[in-house]
Amino acid sequence: MALIELKDVSKLYGFGDATNVALDEVTLTIEKGECVAVMGPSGCGKSTLMNVIGLLDHPSHGDYYLNGRRSARLGSSQRAKLRRDKIGFIFQSFNLLGRLTAIDNVALPLLYKGKSPLARHKIARAMLERVGLHDRTYYYPHQLSGGQTQCVAIARALVNDPEIIIADEPTGNLDTESSRLVMELLAEIHKSGNTVLFVTHNPELTRYATRVMYMQDGMIKHDEQKPLGVVGRYAHTVIYGEPESHEDDDIAGVSALMKARERNEPAEKPARKTTKRRKTTKKRGGTK
Ligand SMILES: Nc1ncnc2c1ncn2[C@@H]1O[C@H](COP(=O)(O)OP(=O)(O)OP(=O)(O)O)[C@@H](O)[C@H]1O
Ligand SMILES: [Mg+2]
Repeated sequence: MALIELKDVSKLYGFGDATNVALDEVTLTIEKGECVAVMGPSGCGKSTLMNVIGLLDHPSHGDYYLNGRRSARLGSSQRAKLRRDKIGFIFQSFNLLGRLTAIDNVALPLLYKGKSPLARHKIARAMLERVGLHDRTYYYPHQLSGGQTQCVAIARALVNDPEIIIADEPTGNLDTESSRLVMELLAEIHKSGNTVLFVTHNPELTRYATRVMYMQDGMIKHDEQKPLGVVGRYAHTVIYGEPESHEDDDIAGVSALMKARERNEPAEKPARKTTKRRKTTKKRGGTK
């Protein structure tokens, strides 16, 4: 049984001529332990997909199963409980409470769970330690850097030991170094057995994923399984475009130049071997 399963899920906003199709009959399954990067242009439905999977939003049509349970059959309190116990959310804008210290922000979800103050403190402290912020326990959000603030948000998302981490552009407001820190942390969470879904506009960050989904117009246009540590092929091609030359051409170019140098004459550019060029992956045949 898949952890996450969507069958022809659509999400529509508005009415009549003003209807906005945020998700268009999306069918997909995500197994436990995957680390999925979701990419695609602004407005293509990434956050909507995350919100449906995270039970923050209802599909307009189609079925969503979480751990085999059909979401449409869940009452609002069951949804809230599943959200609290199974899913940890991380957002671009951190969403910490400014008047609470780091430890109190992290401990907040435990309060809703009815844990004693001592237990809350102990668990929250351990979480801050896990994200490397034990020396910032009593700092307020405005006293932390962006990267540290996001790490507190990650600690808070982890405090209930959720099965699924959903991170919607977790590095969207961070510089390169802080982004790396946050992604290393997410990678570690993934390594410890959690299922991680993250949205990003940065193809470089697909290195941390075992699978990359590329969305367009509310649909998943490309879905690629890949090894950890490499940039998704499709993500790379979409963002950077097709490479201009083939490696063989470059080698041929260099050797032509060297031969010409030996003969002391101007090098002729070798004819491009169009047949040998890498095939484009821009085919639109992905999951729908
Ligand atoms: N509450 C809402 N009411 C009306 N339309 C909405 C609502 N939420 C999202 N939409 C529309 O649904 C579409 C998908 O939005 P979504 O936020 O999922 O995009 P996104 O891929 O996350 O974009 P971004 O990269 O900018 O965050 C957009 O056209 C958006 O305008
Ligand atoms: Mg979004």
